[in-house]
Amino acid sequence: MENKQVVCRWSERRKIVQYMEGLNIKKLLLVCGSNVCKMDIYNDIRDLLTRLNIEVIPFSDFLPNPDYGSVVAGVDEFCRNGCDGIMAVGGGSAMDVAKCIKLFARMNRDTDFLDQERSDNGIPLLAFPTTAGSGSEATRFAVIYREGKKLSITDEKCIPSLVMINSDILNFLPLYQKKATALDALCHGIESYWSVNSTDESKSYAAEAIRLVLANFEKYLSGSSGVNDEMMHGAYMAGRAINITQTTAGHAMAYKLTGIYGFAHGHAAALCVDRLWIYMAEHINEKELCADERGQGYLQDTLAELACIMGGNKAAEGAKIFHRLLESLELEKCEYSEENIDILTGSVNAERLKNHPVRLSEAVIRQLYTQMMRD
Ligand SMILES: [Fe+2]
Repeated sequence: MENKQVVCRWSERRKIVQYMEGLNIKKLLLVCGSNVCKMDIYNDIRDLLTRLNIEVIPFSDFLPNPDYGSVVAGVDEFCRNGCDGIMAVGGGSAMDVAKCIKLFARMNRDTDFLDQERSDNGIPLLAFPTTAGSGSEATRFAVIYREGKKLSITDEKCIPSLVMINSDILNFLPLYQKKATALDALCHGIESYWSVNSTDESKSYAAEAIRLVLANFEKYLSGSSGVNDEMMHGAYMAGRAINITQTTAGHAMAYKLTGIYGFAHGHAAALCVDRLWIYMAEHINEKELCADERGQGYLQDTLAELACIMGGNKAAEGAKIFHRLLESLELEKCEYSEENIDILTGSVNAERLKNHPVRLSEAVIRQLYTQMMRD
């Protein structure tokens, strides 16, 4: 898959300026989380834009897991002010909102945006990620919610053309956010690697992402800023990997966990990948469960390669290494509840399960949630 993104470190200011001048933006909608507005980097970005004679219209009217209404408000803001460019500064939510505003900005505002055809409106979309996790800056996916229902939007036209990387920003992330976002990146790498949609290209991105995150995880959590660049790059590469493959059952099972228990997205995804991987390792020899068209042998090789990337010697070790890592992070577990097991089992998106390399029946999904709660 061709990737025309320009990626610049924030310190490569000349390159950024040159790129921005080429876009000739006059008025920019700056989509950023309300917490980002308090950071020094926000002022640095605004200073740069002022020097480029770009007027800034800030937009922060959205929450984590943004809803359709926030996107509509963002489109209104964009149009009312006559903006001609968009920049997202933040984590996955800011990216998702900015991507949707870009896709919907020139649509008829009297009709539901989701019912309208999307054409390339040429509005520049720039990204400045402030976490090392979602990888959203590298993907064609955006997730928003309407009346509690998750809407997944997939469109090449919402991939930001410029990504600015400043890993110093990670020093300000709270420890739980660091753990959860790094786990999100790691799960993207793992799920992408075993996805039925994997290619040689996606596997090489995913492997690089997993190695980078694992090699630097401990130092990153202990506050050593020397590894921030690697973590940021790992998350970005994981984003490139899922841009090709999409995620699999780990993410499909995770969304409702966030809703019910309030766990951060990466925390929820890791709890699911943990149980899934153990199940896959136990059932790898059952041919009828293999959902990858390339065959059971291919899947066995993939899981063996994955274990090796994780630092193990044989296939079964991959799941164990991941489990030990997750345990070491001492994250909150799911409290047991029959009612929640029913809700969670019914919540899993069957479409996303199709990317998973091992067939999972409803009974198995129920069993995995039950084990997660009894852990
Ligand atoms: Fe994710």
